[in-house]
Amino acid sequence: MKLIEAKNYQDMSLKAAEIIQSVLANKPDAVLGLATGGTVLGPYEILIAKYEEDSLSFKKASSVNLDEYVGLPSDHPNSYYYYMNENLFKHVDFSANQTHLPNGVADDIEKESERYENLIDGLGGIDLQLLGIGENGHIGFNEPGTPFDSATHKVKLTESTRAANARYFDSINEVPAHAITMGIGSIMKSKQILLLASGVKKAGILEKIVHEEISEEIPATILKQHGNVIIIADQDALSKLNSAHKQLLNT
Ligand code: GLP
Repeated sequence: MKLIEAKNYQDMSLKAAEIIQSVLANKPDAVLGLATGGTVLGPYEILIAKYEEDSLSFKKASSVNLDEYVGLPSDHPNSYYYYMNENLFKHVDFSANQTHLPNGVADDIEKESERYENLIDGLGGIDLQLLGIGENGHIGFNEPGTPFDSATHKVKLTESTRAANARYFDSINEVPAHAITMGIGSIMKSKQILLLASGVKKAGILEKIVHEEISEEIPATILKQHGNVIIIADQDALSKLNSAHKQLLNT
């Protein structure tokens, strides 16, 4: 893993956008694994600005998103489909048929999971997977206890994840109970992974990634086994780590 220290959220966002930009410069038809949540909004804004000033294009690229809520149609303002459209897709030049998310309203979620996993493989795999991180170490919606070899599947969200995401809904009761997510195995197949963390709320989980053994109880610990992971974290997210600990993230 390689740790890039950022001063603050803005700096983290800029550094993340620059990495995505360089992936597209080297491989215009790259497959980007995209994420939702608050952390990636800054990077998306900067990518849009770079697109507008002509310094990058998504025309030949394709994207696959990590996850989607079960039961929310694509036009629901809290669906990840809607989020991606509002915060990135409609502002840049991705071809409409080259951006993909799991379908949270498919009749048969198991079949949909299989279709999505095959789709990722059919695209040749993910060149760069962008990840945020849950306070409990979840990546995508892979909650603690998810098998490391899991493919795309349906998950029951933990109460803590529903509570963390309730800020986007009118009340916690409206947060769906289930989601469909790439599995840990799907994520680990990515050629490169870019994990972003900002704010004191993420300090505890970054500390655990450093100190704890690799375990399904803390899904993000598996990233220590991937040969090509970059973590960009800001000072607040790194506030529980001293310089020796940070070195451990640079191995
Ligand atoms: C959700 C998403 C994750 C995301 C996490 C952190 O649970 N499914 O992909 O990483 O939230 O979100 P935030 O960036 O808002 O802290």
